Amino acid sequence: MTEYQVIDSEQTVYRDGTIKLHGPDGFEGMRKAGRLAAQILDELTGFIQPGVTTGEIDDKVREMTLDGGAVPATMGYRGYQHSCCTSINHVICHGIPGDKALKDGDIVNVDVTPLLDGWHGDTSRMYLVGDVALKARRLVDVTYECLMLGIEAAGRPGARLGDIGAVIEAHARKNRYGVVQEFCGHGLGRLFHDAPEVIHTGRMGTGPLLKPGMFFTIEPMINLGRPHAKLLNDGWTAVTRDKSLSAQFEHSIGIKEDGGIEIFTESPKGLHHPPY
Ligand code: MF3
Ligand code: CO
Ligand code: CO
Repeated sequence: MTEYQVIDSEQTVYRDGTIKLHGPDGFEGMRKAGRLAAQILDELTGFIQPGVTTGEIDDKVREMTLDGGAVPATMGYRGYQHSCCTSINHVICHGIPGDKALKDGDIVNVDVTPLLDGWHGDTSRMYLVGDVALKARRLVDVTYECLMLGIEAAGRPGARLGDIGAVIEAHARKNRYGVVQEFCGHGLGRLFHDAPEVIHTGRMGTGPLLKPGMFFTIEPMINLGRPHAKLLNDGWTAVTRDKSLSAQFEHSIGIKEDGGIEIFTESPKGLHHPPY
């Protein structure tokens, strides 16, 4: 049985499996954290080019996060040492920034999570590096559509958590893409990763009811080939088993009092998906 817990914004919360229901102060906190996260991704659009290393992207993300009065929630998270994740081509998620330089034709996801005044803004976008092949651009487009269809489904009256995965899976299948199942979206707020798990596949009408005050991410990872993931020896980097390309977009959202959706991490500059 799903348990919900109404919390006030000052309350200490735990990963106890309950779905937290937030009030106006929570929305205000998430709005600020989410806006900063989106601004950081906006600023990266001009910076991400052939020759730039993922470590340089990480430095820039850290700088902008600190300048915004936040800290990167990933630094020190379960031993992770970096300010963002940079996932190139067949890397599904959690690519570790380093010396690797981007090259013409790459697609790369940058995932940022500033922690601002106790609230987490978690968002990622794909970037095209130089001239990118049509089939990779199509994957990126469809992945963005999957995210937005998931958000739309969450905002329907009487929506359940499973509706999100159902529409995402249907759209990916129509395009003969694989939906990664090893990683999912998650509740967030004062906690980085909390209940519920937001699975990107599923059946309509299943799962917990979406209630006003819920905050969670939707972050579909879509593969050009088979859905299966493999973890590299570094313990973080997840890649496609068949080495096919993978794309991801992520938003942090809240369910409003009227059942509609607020996207906390929407781009202030309208840089929703490439080309930027
Ligand atoms: N930002 C990722 C997410 O969307 C989590 C990254 S955790 C890290 O949930 F440690 F790998 F950075
Ligand atoms: Co997330
Ligand atoms: Co993220």
